[in-house]
Amino acid sequence: MLYRGMMIFVGLVLLPFVAFAQVSVQPIMSFQDRHLPVFGSNGMVAAQERLAAEVGAKILEDGGNAVDAAVAVGFSLAVTLPIAGNIGGGGFMIIHDAERDEQIAIDYREMAPKRATRDMYLDEDGNVDNETARFSHLSAGVPGTVAGLYLAHQEYGRLPWKQLLQPAIEQARNGIVLDYFLAYLIERRKQRLCAFAAACNYFFDANGVPKKAGDLLVQKDLARTLALIAENGPEAFYRGEIAEKIAAEMQRHGGLVDMESLAAYKALTRDVIRGRYRGIEIVTMPPPSSGGVHLLQMLNVLEHFPLADMGAGSADLIHVLAETARLAYADRSVHLGDPDFYDVPVEWLTSAAYAKQMAATIDMKKARSSEDVAPGVEPRFESDNTTHYSVIDGEGNVVSNTYTLNFSFGSSIAVPGAGFLLNNEMDDFSAKPNSPNGYGLLGGKANAIETDKRPLSSMTPTIVFADGEPWFATGSPGGSRIITTVLQMIINVVDHGMNIAAATAAPRVHHQWLPDVLRVEQGISPDTRAILEQRGHVLSSRSSMGSLQTVGVEDGVYIGASDLRRPGAASVAPGFQTDTD
Ligand code: GLY
Repeated sequence: MLYRGMMIFVGLVLLPFVAFAQVSVQPIMSFQDRHLPVFGSNGMVAAQERLAAEVGAKILEDGGNAVDAAVAVGFSLAVTLPIAGNIGGGGFMIIHDAERDEQIAIDYREMAPKRATRDMYLDEDGNVDNETARFSHLSAGVPGTVAGLYLAHQEYGRLPWKQLLQPAIEQARNGIVLDYFLAYLIERRKQRLCAFAAACNYFFDANGVPKKAGDLLVQKDLARTLALIAENGPEAFYRGEIAEKIAAEMQRHGGLVDMESLAAYKALTRDVIRGRYRGIEIVTMPPPSSGGVHLLQMLNVLEHFPLADMGAGSADLIHVLAETARLAYADRSVHLGDPDFYDVPVEWLTSAAYAKQMAATIDMKKARSSEDVAPGVEPRFESDNTTHYSVIDGEGNVVSNTYTLNFSFGSSIAVPGAGFLLNNEMDDFSAKPNSPNGYGLLGGKANAIETDKRPLSSMTPTIVFADGEPWFATGSPGGSRIITTVLQMIINVVDHGMNIAAATAAPRVHHQWLPDVLRVEQGISPDTRAILEQRGHVLSSRSSMGSLQTVGVEDGVYIGASDLRRPGAASVAPGFQTDTD
């Protein structure tokens, strides 16, 4: 592997420097790569927000393992990145435990409340009422984050639970300096956030003026909530004072997350799903995320094509990728749902035989019409949130974690007195067959709303292994684009020999069957676009897609790459925090 060879050299050059100064990147400035990862000698944390990444690096420095750091980062992001970091949402975590040499998935996806019903979002004409499904108290599922992070800590953590929450408590209590991007996002979301008083009061002054970049965002109620969780664990959140506050708010506004639903919430450990791609092992998330299944399914199909020879960014590669994604996302709409309620055919979808069949249907000269693959309808709205972080420690333990409130700021509804926003994850259920959710994704019976069921997700936390050892861990936000974003990361590294930073920066494309549109980022050349159009693709250029947060290890050198598509992300090695107190 060209990249591995390069990294041996980088490692030899860098090792004398990494422990002492961040200028250690200097000796490799002559490499031809346009992008370089951050290097470290004893672990790495990559997250969407620097303060939270630094919290994780400090936990590693203080003797915590990757799971400890991941728990601390999870709580910290709930303070520093309120658009997606959360305790009012849910997510998925993949853990590699080096000592036991095992990988496990933690499912802390939200659950439908006890009184949820299949048709709860249909109006009297039988149409989906999107406003109710996305921005009302009825849009919230039972949050899973506190239970999930606690389960990870109980099974795999080392440091005391309280110690892991302390940085987040301090950040909430003392305040964080609001950066330009978060201030902008808060202002942009004013109408939603101020629909109910609690969230409005947390982010705006009494006259409705938003906090500005440079202002201190103090979150006293959230600090108190986190302190209760630090003291009493999930009991405080699911049965105690915090549960009472959630249930009271729900009762005031016709929501369904009641004390019974909260008490019934369970985070679960699940078996990871595994695949091989050109000799590399991929360990990823099983249902109720669709991410892992379709990542493996698409890699299996793409293995039939000479991607390295086609070349990164070539029309051939983009075409085959789009055609593969078209097939996979069509399957998603029928076959994926919560495996505790629906028999998801994971083995068949990820089998070599099925991949071969699919590969044989791809015409390299002509794009298929999605209508020929299956019928569907046009989406009406799209959001692009969620957040991912990855951690690796000096002992080889790895965590890949994606969690979310669903939309930016979730439902935009906060729990009064408790200081946190609630998810609107119920919109990830299929409210009605063939009616698209916020990401334009369709679903049917497999993902219909049922009591205690978990809505289907696209989150794709993934760990990639080479020669039986963890190589890199990655994941991204981006709704339906998450799966193709992670897919392209793996192809860029494995097929094109890019380092993880170059692989992150490379332009991305996305197809999801319906709408029948090939979405391309800036950086795909006009002549490439013209060839794709000649083959029958309908191209669309909109905002950038995803925000990969990746860590890895190459011959003893730890590497991190944080996507530049959204500001504020950082990869931080232990010992290199700006705030080490
Ligand atoms: N809410 C986005 C996802 O779970 O995929």
